[in-house]
Amino acid sequence: MSIIRHPELAPEGHRRINWVSRHMPVLSGLAEKHSPSRPFQGLKMSVCIHLEAKTAYMARVFQQCGAELTVTGSNPLSTQDAIAAALVESGIRVFAWHGVTAEEYADHIRRTIAVGPDLIIDDGADLITALHRERADLLAQVRGAAEETTTGLIRLRAMADNGYLAFPVIAVNDAYCKYLFDNRYGTGQSVWDGIMRTTNLLIAGKTVVVSGYGWCGRGVAARAAGLGARVIVTEIDPVRALEAVMEGYRVMPMLEAAALGDIFVTTTGCKQIIREEHFAALKNGAILSNAGHFDVEIDIAVLKRLAEHQGQPRQNIDAYRFKDGRVVYLLGEGRLVNLAAADGHPAEIMDLSFALQFLAMLYLVHNKEPLPKQVINLPAQADHEVALLKIRSMGISIDSLTTQQQAYLSSWKQDEANPQA
Ligand SMILES: NC(=O)c1ccc[n+]([C@@H]2O[C@H](COP(=O)([O-])OP(=O)(O)OC[C@H]3O[C@@H](n4cnc5c(N)ncnc54)[C@H](O)[C@@H]3O)[C@@H](O)[C@H]2O)c1
Repeated sequence: MSIIRHPELAPEGHRRINWVSRHMPVLSGLAEKHSPSRPFQGLKMSVCIHLEAKTAYMARVFQQCGAELTVTGSNPLSTQDAIAAALVESGIRVFAWHGVTAEEYADHIRRTIAVGPDLIIDDGADLITALHRERADLLAQVRGAAEETTTGLIRLRAMADNGYLAFPVIAVNDAYCKYLFDNRYGTGQSVWDGIMRTTNLLIAGKTVVVSGYGWCGRGVAARAAGLGARVIVTEIDPVRALEAVMEGYRVMPMLEAAALGDIFVTTTGCKQIIREEHFAALKNGAILSNAGHFDVEIDIAVLKRLAEHQGQPRQNIDAYRFKDGRVVYLLGEGRLVNLAAADGHPAEIMDLSFALQFLAMLYLVHNKEPLPKQVINLPAQADHEVALLKIRSMGISIDSLTTQQQAYLSSWKQDEANPQA
């Protein structure tokens, strides 16, 4: 039995899922190719992921390929009730609703685990860590899992290093066709979608502070610059800081940036990026948002201690007034702004990420050799296949090596590979 809040919203959910499905040709192509053989027949798949239209379409594809699915949300604010309702109507078990409390969130994860999964898709590792902590009795039957995001992989690698991980986990995030496109272009676009639709304010001419110049930060900074903002980057890694400098951004410590920024976006995967000493320096009217996986990048507990909550001037904006009269605005409760206050990444981007998830699950099922109980990479062939399918779907073709070029590139003797030279 499912537990959701608004079953009456199912028709709207179906509409949204159908719309994105038309823009996810790679995943659709994989579904068409593999569904006749039903590779996941008889397997239980537990999924913990931002529950919106694109993930729902992925769930449907797995269902079409034989899997018995149980789904929960990976973030209290990213679940869309209409989508949950549509999935339930499609025969998928769902435990999720928008705005769950911490207890409800944990309960939904517990129920999603309780089915006894053979396969797992996680986003942030909450499901996998809960399974290890609370249901050791179910670990042995898990063939393997796939993890969607950077933060989840950090946690899972720590588990593996401690000898604690009980099954193989495929690092889908670390495939090129994931982080190059999803983290960079997906986050780059959807973060600004979230900020702009939430605030309805202009970006051009503003000073935007991007914390963390990783894959997500690069995208967020590039799109901010494209919208006409002056971009400041804060970093702890000198190589990434240098890269940001060469890209033309100003780089400085957060304490300096705090006094200059009009809009802040944290994308570090670390905690307390904007904390007590920074709050003291913020300009009146500064807008704070986070794009990292957990709501720990802006120290909200301290913000609430230092400043009085002044209500919500608009949906998803909380105003806080400091004793000296300055007011700052927190978007989406400090949770990932692109999912808490928008629809997440564009469908064409998630087409790549979820095609990789599909191939990761196929790899776990088809692989005959036992895989190590470690965080492992998806075979490079998966990246190649997904990229090729995507560019073909875009009507683009590329060159291939001639026989002479192949010989040239595979020989260390220049005269053999290039006889007339
Ligand atoms: N919003 C989304 O839709 C979305 C999509 C993908 C990933 N994510 C999440 O975004 C976060 C970043 O992911 P990524 O792939 O860019 O990771 P990444 O490892 O490529 O980049 C993180 C960067 O932050 C820097 N950093 C770490 N601690 C810092 C600190 N204290 N101050 C300043 N900089 C610091 C690191 O040096 C690194 O360059 C993760 O939590 C990830 O799970 C969110």
